[in-house]
Amino acid sequence: MLALAERLSHYKAEGLTCRPVASGKLVRVVGLTLEATGCRAPIGSLCKVETMTGDMEAEVVGFSGERLFLMPSEQVTGVLPGAKVTPVTGEAGLAVGMELLGRVIDGVGNPLDGLGPIYTEKRTSFNSEPINPLARKPIKEPLDVGIKAINGLLTVGKGQRIGLFAGSGVGKSVTLGMMTRGTNAQVVVVGLIGERGREVKEFIEEILGVDGRQRSVVVAAPADASPLMRLKGCQTALTVAEYFRDQGLDVLLLLDSLTRFAQAQREIALSVGEPPATKGYPPSVFAKLPALVERAGNGDENQGSITAFFTVLTEGDDLQDPIADASRAILDGHVVLSREMADAGHYPAIDVEKSVSRVMPQITTDEHMLMSKAVRQVLSVCRKNQDLVSIGAYKPGTDPAIDSAFTIKPKLDEYLQQSMKESVPYDMCVNMLKSLLGG
Ligand SMILES: Nc1ncnc2c1ncn2[C@@H]1O[C@H](COP(=O)(O)OP(=O)(O)O)[C@@H](O)[C@H]1O
Ligand SMILES: [Mg+2]
Repeated sequence: MLALAERLSHYKAEGLTCRPVASGKLVRVVGLTLEATGCRAPIGSLCKVETMTGDMEAEVVGFSGERLFLMPSEQVTGVLPGAKVTPVTGEAGLAVGMELLGRVIDGVGNPLDGLGPIYTEKRTSFNSEPINPLARKPIKEPLDVGIKAINGLLTVGKGQRIGLFAGSGVGKSVTLGMMTRGTNAQVVVVGLIGERGREVKEFIEEILGVDGRQRSVVVAAPADASPLMRLKGCQTALTVAEYFRDQGLDVLLLLDSLTRFAQAQREIALSVGEPPATKGYPPSVFAKLPALVERAGNGDENQGSITAFFTVLTEGDDLQDPIADASRAILDGHVVLSREMADAGHYPAIDVEKSVSRVMPQITTDEHMLMSKAVRQVLSVCRKNQDLVSIGAYKPGTDPAIDSAFTIKPKLDEYLQQSMKESVPYDMCVNMLKSLLGG
């Protein structure tokens, strides 16, 4: 263990060692991108750029001939033409440890909560090696998330990766908050990426609350952070989750949002000259999405699990958005929040018919599966016949399936709704479902 004084200076230097390497100079700044010549550094490495107000950090994101393209991790101010650019050798990495619990950090691990520095024994790379898919434990056990509609009808498995699809203001943040309080996962890692700064504060103080915070780590990179910070923020959230998983713990990772991650990568890729492909998104976005998502999931036999919810914004409630489309293909299920239901005051506005948990058959009993199927049938019958019934064109007694569906519907609606502060354990959800359907 390092002595404290030594450790302090270690952290002060951010764990970076500067071997004398050839410095280059800045030759061009376009938008967010800095261009340097005269130095060599691999993609993904850090450089220090001299500014009027001290050194600024920038990451190598591309090159063309002898020219390096750099993306700063903060606002570009005080940069002069010809400024010195020095490659930094050795990766800073992210400080990880149990000390992170209860803390709020920024995209690269600096504390944001004013509770002082975070000292940990270990530093780890932002980009870990993915686990061999064949070494991963299969998804076998359900994870309690404390929400009746999900526990009962869209059961989530430990190690599953789910998309939470919704437009803005439909209840994503509240739903994630309910899970942080209701889950039986030992650690919750929350990534708040590209949201408004005010939302970050609200989430931490009101939604997460004092109890929720103790076993959580929040990584925040709000909308005004640089695209690199937002991108790093997602990687940081995954790196933190991986650390706790490697300690054998069950982790619930809530990343809000995957869309903002894709948009940050789009900003970076476009500014270094990658051509846009689908709806302005360059191809690299569609390569980075699965690379991020694949880091979640079960570990090997000696490790715990990362169950992940990635929120996906459906602009204008368009489920065919390219990011929504690409995400649906790489996730093991999706929960769709419906604006119509939210408008009608039905919260959480989970559209059970449109949602699916692809691992549910593996982790629940046959009886539970049958009940979930029955509920879907009731919902479908009611939706199809709602108009007929409401104008009085349907005569009760004509079709027993319709009659029983409409008898169960009010109780089912009650089951599917849940107030923000309430959380219902998994077993109770299943039992409530059973008594609802009459055994
Ligand atoms: N379970 C719930 N119970 C009551 N109201 C809710 C619930 N979930 C969401 N809401 C309402 O919806 C509003 C928007 O939710 P929020 O989670 O902030 O949306 P988003 O994150 O999707 O933009 C909340 O301010 C709240 O009034
Ligand atoms: Mg929100």
